[in-house]
Amino acid sequence: MPNKTDINTNTLPNHVAIIMDGNGRWAKQQSKIRVFGHKVGVTAVRDTVEGAAEIGLKYLTLYAFSSENWNRPKSEINALMELLVNTITKETKTLMNNNIRLVAIGNLDDLPKKCLNNLSLAIEKTSQNNKMTLVLALSYSSRKEIVQAIQQIAEKIKSGDMSMDDINEESVKNHLYTYNIPDPELLIRTSGELRISNFLMWQIAYSELYFTKILWPDFRRENLYEALLDFQSRERRFGKTSEQIEKENA
Ligand code: IPE
Ligand code: IPE
Ligand code: MG
Repeated sequence: MPNKTDINTNTLPNHVAIIMDGNGRWAKQQSKIRVFGHKVGVTAVRDTVEGAAEIGLKYLTLYAFSSENWNRPKSEINALMELLVNTITKETKTLMNNNIRLVAIGNLDDLPKKCLNNLSLAIEKTSQNNKMTLVLALSYSSRKEIVQAIQQIAEKIKSGDMSMDDINEESVKNHLYTYNIPDPELLIRTSGELRISNFLMWQIAYSELYFTKILWPDFRRENLYEALLDFQSRERRFGKTSEQIEKENA
């Protein structure tokens, strides 16, 4: 396990995004039902969020529920939504104690009313916190996010608020759910799956990817720190040559 002090806090990524995967398999290993894995996963969320704020990350995005997850058995969806409602309310105190602001991205209108209400309350209550921003991706689909951006831009062109010449990377970004959030420099996925599952496809165009076999309920801040150390060992070239990067850093 890496030591926190091994991490250079001057070269931390600004934004880390995590695909929290493997709750079901974790539960199965313990001969428990899938929902038990989701419940234990909350401990991993709390420790990771606190650890991220402690080390000094400015943004942490957690993929908690995808648009595709609505296709799971009704009983699992209900349990997940119930867990979400309770966790958001219970953990608002943790967010306040750690000076963390909560925001959410995704098709939030799909969420049950109670869930959306509690989420809005927590977002409102933590809105003045400024140590770190925690972004929860809920009922999130990257493709849907891009489609709604295109629809908004088309509407603006139709009404004359935008012209064709205004369509560029900046204006597209400004119509995504993440319009006011910097792109993640590091994307972590747990559970050993090597895929993106419709997560932040525009935003991760140049992110460093980190995959670990650890199942989400076992993930702790030390595992985050391990990923940060790995990130810091990489050379991010953005299309340039290694020699160019070395010269820039000299
Ligand atoms: C991630 O764990 C949590 C959600 C997608 C809500 P899974 O529930 O996907 O667990 P596995 O992948 O089946 O093990
Ligand atoms: C991705 O996990 C979504 C979340 C972690 C919330 P899944 O477990 O749903 O992904 P797939 O379907 O295996 O790709
Ligand atoms: Mg999964």
